[in-house]
Amino acid sequence: MSGPQGVKSGLFDVVRSQRACRDFADRSVDDEDIARVLEAATYAPSAENGQPWVFVVVRDDATRAQIHDLTLRAWQDGARAGAAQRLDASLLADVDHGIAGGGYRAAPVLVVVAADTERGFPSTVGSSIFPATQNLLLAATALGLGSALTTITTAFAEELRELLGLPVHVAPQAVVPLGYPARPLGLSRREPFAEHTHRDRFGNPWERLSSSDRDGGAA
Ligand SMILES: Cc1cc2nc3c(=O)[nH]c(=O)nc-3n(C[C@H](O)[C@H](O)[C@H](O)COP(=O)(O)O)c2cc1C
Repeated sequence: MSGPQGVKSGLFDVVRSQRACRDFADRSVDDEDIARVLEAATYAPSAENGQPWVFVVVRDDATRAQIHDLTLRAWQDGARAGAAQRLDASLLADVDHGIAGGGYRAAPVLVVVAADTERGFPSTVGSSIFPATQNLLLAATALGLGSALTTITTAFAEELRELLGLPVHVAPQAVVPLGYPARPLGLSRREPFAEHTHRDRFGNPWERLSSSDRDGGAA
């Protein structure tokens, strides 16, 4: 959808409705949709256009069960205890539901996102993966699919690598469950962007100014 001066209102709707889905319906996802989502992922920027992303699309039930076991182990072996000290009760309950309550296990597809460390510098290869992962999440949302960026399983990166047959230079970065949401995701909870934004110098509040106030009255 295009608005005045090329504004894409569809994009803004998608951005605002993208949320972590931790409850999946018993409904399969077509390979055609997976392909669209992954193609969108690859339009992300990457350092020196190295495109270091590697996606493993896991549908096999036994492999998904093994990934789930690793996630559960990571959560129960310490990640939950740490998270319990930081997260609010409702987010902790959501993540508990996703991991220990079988929410993520119900997703018909897991996309393991990995980084080919031979296609970039150590300082940039990891950060080249997450713009692609975000594109993946947004494309999934645009198609009505639920998804979530999860990283807990990468605590067992070696086990994941072995399970999926990844070469040593391919490092798992995230596991994204994909499927249709079992229920509406509701509204995102976000602080106003202005609380995170400064004008010209840290500490100066960002307030929306008219162009004449902003440019000192110049036309
Ligand atoms: C780097 C990163 C790691 C994350 N890891 C996990 C995870 O392991 N498990 C999980 O359930 N959610 C994970 N999340 C999802 C966040 O919990 C979620 O984006 C955040 O709480 C905002 O909630 P919303 O998507 O519902 O708006 C991760 C998000 C990011 C950006």
